[in-house]
Amino acid sequence: MSPVNILYGTMSGNGRNLAHVIGESLESAGFETLVSGLGDVDPENIHDMDYLVIVTSTYGDGEPPDNASEWMSYLKFNEEIQLKNLKYAVLGLGDRYYPHFCQCGKDFDEYLSNRGGNPLLPRLDCDLYYEEQYPEWLSELIKVLKKTVQE
Ligand SMILES: Cc1cc2nc3c(=O)[nH]c(=O)nc-3n(C[C@H](O)[C@H](O)[C@H](O)COP(=O)(O)O)c2cc1C
Repeated sequence: MSPVNILYGTMSGNGRNLAHVIGESLESAGFETLVSGLGDVDPENIHDMDYLVIVTSTYGDGEPPDNASEWMSYLKFNEEIQLKNLKYAVLGLGDRYYPHFCQCGKDFDEYLSNRGGNPLLPRLDCDLYYEEQYPEWLSELIKVLKKTVQE
């Protein structure tokens, strides 16, 4: 199986920390992973990926963190791109106090799906207590990936 790319958008580090935790769990489950900031990977590389997990926070008025903005623009404005071979998952980090709760995660999910990507499982929108929220989603992700390998 090709590696699971785990890419994070972050400003203050939560997304990066969680992406590494997810990466370690997937490695323990037997998957090869590549963990990187979205800003450190050319968005065009998405065409070489079979598996992509995006972990991203939201800032401003529902905007992506700075290191995720290039990826967001690439997916939003290049309507012709085809991601039919991509299997993806999105975990949004946010705070319900803000009107555009987890908007960046929602937008990534929408654009990946609109460009033909296949969601592995429903997106998780996490609040500030994300450490309590992500484990169940992560278990489900591992289950789905194991099933995908068997197919
Ligand atoms: C200035 C500021 C603006 C924020 N704006 C939003 C927002 O619009 N929507 C949202 O859901 N969360 C918002 N948040 C919450 C962050 O997304 C949340 O704290 C997240 O866990 C930060 O993750 P990071 O450390 O990976 O950047 C905001 C936080 C700050 C400090």
